[in-house]
Amino acid sequence: MKFFTSKHLSFKLVTLVIFISFNAAAQEISRYPLIPYPAELVAGKGSFIITSKTSILLAERFWNEANELNDLLSKGLGKKLSITKNPNPHAIKLVYDASIAAPEAYKLTITPQQVIIAAKDPAGIFHAIETIRQLLPVSIEDGNIAKQLSLPALTIEDHPTYEWRGMHLDVSRHFFSINYLEKFIDRMALYKMNKLHLHLTDDQGWRIEIKRYPRLTEEGAWRTFNNQDSACMKRAVDNPDFTIDKEHIIQRDGKTLYGGFYTQDEMKGVVAYAAARHIDVIPEIDMPGHMMAAINSYPFLTCNGENKFGELFSKPICPCNENTFEFAENVFNEIMKIFPSKYIHIGGDEVDRSDWAKSDACKALMQKEGIKDLPALQSYFINRMEKFFNSKGRKMIGWDEIIEGGVTKTAIIMYWRGWVPDAPVKAAKNGNTVIMTPGEPLYFDAQPDQYSISKVYHFNPIPKVLNKEEAKAIIGAQANIWSEMIPSEKRADYMYMPRMTALAEMLWTNDQNKYDSYLKRLVQQYNRMDALKINYRLPDLPGLLNEYVFTDEGKLSITKPLPTLTIRYTTDGLPPTTASPKLPSPLIIKTSELVKVAAFTPAGTRGDIYSLNYTQQLMLGPVKIAPPKPGLACSYYKAYFKETALMHGAKVDSTFITNKIEVPSTVKAPSFGITYRGYIEVPTDGIYSFYLTCDDGGVLRIGNNVTVNNDGNHSAQERSGQIALAMGAHPFNLDFIEGGGGFKLLLKYSLNGSEPKEIPASWLKH
Ligand code: ACM
Repeated sequence: MKFFTSKHLSFKLVTLVIFISFNAAAQEISRYPLIPYPAELVAGKGSFIITSKTSILLAERFWNEANELNDLLSKGLGKKLSITKNPNPHAIKLVYDASIAAPEAYKLTITPQQVIIAAKDPAGIFHAIETIRQLLPVSIEDGNIAKQLSLPALTIEDHPTYEWRGMHLDVSRHFFSINYLEKFIDRMALYKMNKLHLHLTDDQGWRIEIKRYPRLTEEGAWRTFNNQDSACMKRAVDNPDFTIDKEHIIQRDGKTLYGGFYTQDEMKGVVAYAAARHIDVIPEIDMPGHMMAAINSYPFLTCNGENKFGELFSKPICPCNENTFEFAENVFNEIMKIFPSKYIHIGGDEVDRSDWAKSDACKALMQKEGIKDLPALQSYFINRMEKFFNSKGRKMIGWDEIIEGGVTKTAIIMYWRGWVPDAPVKAAKNGNTVIMTPGEPLYFDAQPDQYSISKVYHFNPIPKVLNKEEAKAIIGAQANIWSEMIPSEKRADYMYMPRMTALAEMLWTNDQNKYDSYLKRLVQQYNRMDALKINYRLPDLPGLLNEYVFTDEGKLSITKPLPTLTIRYTTDGLPPTTASPKLPSPLIIKTSELVKVAAFTPAGTRGDIYSLNYTQQLMLGPVKIAPPKPGLACSYYKAYFKETALMHGAKVDSTFITNKIEVPSTVKAPSFGITYRGYIEVPTDGIYSFYLTCDDGGVLRIGNNVTVNNDGNHSAQERSGQIALAMGAHPFNLDFIEGGGGFKLLLKYSLNGSEPKEIPASWLKH
């Protein structure tokens, strides 16, 4: 018989403990796949079984929530449970608990014997019900009837970090049906979002009935196809999600018109639907700019009767005529009757004020009121409207431009202009309440990519420079979905899901350490999204580059991000379809070609298409450098460049040597360019991959080849490429430009498929 030494034994024990705790963590994720994750969750043993005999026991004040719970459970059981006030041992109990002080907070206890949902607010009970929904089998979402439903035992104490957890939807640029709004609300509720901001009017369409001004919708809700529609139609050739929804196309007087609007009754229904789910609907009637749809029917609204685009934005309504205020107040009077929300959004963004300067009425008003400039004239309009809102007991929200000409302390600022980073800081220091919606990363109309979920999850709504007291001004954040290029429900789904789940967890749980667990829980949530028929963006295919090279043969294998997906490919340049062959593991590539790959769900939904360009290459031989000096020789250009090539021939501001690919801390100019010149000396023959992340543009050339092209003005994005290099030195040129608004520059490499890492300083020579 052979005995382990104690060293062996303790090693085995440690391994066992690690294995068990790893397994326990994985089990916990699959038992409690909750998004957003609760503030505190303690796992329990066993399950509570719900059958048609289970009853719902309630405190009087939670009658609506008891019905919501009953509706949910009946989808899985095929029957409603009895709702009672009589004690019943096998029950789900809704309990009023005045000690649960935080707004929207709840406690949830599930044991094999009973379920107790406790809260002070009905909203807390409702959030607990959505937690229960995520604990129930996915089958409850698609009406699959079962005799019993099982809830895993646990104890949760939960409350949100931020009070404003918002989603915005632009229904002007493309119109969305009432049915879709209700779906959208339902999904928000599932992830505990609580504010729906509807962008109801813009240049391209007026979407809400106003009885006093019927032409706003008779005319303003309909258009012949515009340039955004044409752009969508072009993209629809490759991607049917860009097809304009036929439901919103009509024929009138021999013309094809596109659009639609909500009647006041319909919208009241949406507001009630949202209210039952503890979501406020905040209406935005955007003015004084973005008003072309209204001006078209009511030209008296402008200073000069014109209705057209100025240099950047459309011409606004005129703040110097009393008629304008009468119109605005009449419109908002009707809006306030539809929307009981405490908040009303006035817009106030992107105003071309140039016509105001030419108007006699404005000149006279500015003189009379002592208004010093055009931003102050805009403030005159906004501040007067705020007084009107306040007189009706409402609070005004405006986009952050409204602080430019001076703003009251009571207006609520919705920050969006990422390139004006001090706007929310100024607003918070001025005492205004602030909602954060910066374009990066919270404009969900921006194409999602492999980084977008992480960026949303790691976004911190609180600007770093605010102290604790000032930070209280930031009440939360919101994602905005501008719909210029979102003409269909499927495209909308794709743009905001699953990004919204990252936003939900950031705003509710706000614990960056949970990111890895969030990603695992998200994998579980995809099953629920499938059952709900959400056209979510499929998870990224991991580890793919933009450009590949090979010397003898290339090999492509891809790890599936979800086990249910099938990866298919083409080599004829056409997009993969469900009829394309499955990707073998590996696919052997013997000639230069373009391989397109995409993942498909069992239902046939296609994920993003990846174009992988394979080029056969001879291994690049080294060059002689004598005597090599350490580091790269760099030139700094203090100017604005749209593309890296424009640096060539420009005036060099200074030069320096660096052994690290970075921007020196001495660089303070908002716009600049840097060229890094020299050699990269690699220690062994191989296929080298380079990953260039930059904001704005960058181009990497090794030898005479463009190895990575990440040029142009854009936010931080990674592009990657390969080159076959023989051991030794190779000419190395990196060009980088920053156009303004903050930069990022990161270059990593990997050899023969290893983990990407930084380029060692000793490799860089000049
Ligand atoms: C905006 O994106 N114009 C608020």
